[in-house]
Amino acid sequence: MRVLQPLFQNNREWSERIRASDPSFFQRLSQQQSPKYLWIGCSDSRVPANEIIGLPPGEVFVHRNVANVVVHTDLNCLSALQFGIDVLQVEHVMVVGHYGCSGVRAALFQQRIGLSDNWLGHVRDVAERHEARIRPLAHDGERADRLCELNVVEQVRNVSHTTIVRDAWERGQKLSLHGWIYSLRDGLLRDLGVTAQNLDECNERYAAALQALEQ
Ligand code: CO
Repeated sequence: MRVLQPLFQNNREWSERIRASDPSFFQRLSQQQSPKYLWIGCSDSRVPANEIIGLPPGEVFVHRNVANVVVHTDLNCLSALQFGIDVLQVEHVMVVGHYGCSGVRAALFQQRIGLSDNWLGHVRDVAERHEARIRPLAHDGERADRLCELNVVEQVRNVSHTTIVRDAWERGQKLSLHGWIYSLRDGLLRDLGVTAQNLDECNERYAAALQALEQ
């Protein structure tokens, strides 16, 4: 007997459903992928990339980690970025945070989780950098939400600082960066206004987004 039987059952039904509406779907996709989007999001099970933006397999290249962090030396994230941009030639990279992120909360309130505390140190750095934008807020929930937003803005900036993105822009490749935040409460995405197609624009949008996050 196969373990996790219900999952295999779901999978068969899913595959049949897709083939019923588009008989050559898997045949076509197995030849190649040419997604336009690279999604960098949180591993949280409630934030599934494809479903949220209503795109089928083949349309989004996805990298997820705890608290959607882009670290300059993280070979895993850098490899996804490099493959997505250089090989697949995606046109958009979006960092997508979400309100109610446990990783962000743990970083803000210095809750001990375990090994992940070291990873979340990167989010803690964001909190310290922007203490003046977080501390004045009246409630812990608002502070955590604000850090979720600030974390996205900072991670988009980190994406823009990678050699991968800089090289792509220098050689004139069409590439936009975006920072979004998702609400678990209503299933809606919000644009944080850091969309940029070059480094100057990136710096301008970064400054403007931070200003907007002061209210
Ligand atoms: Co999260």
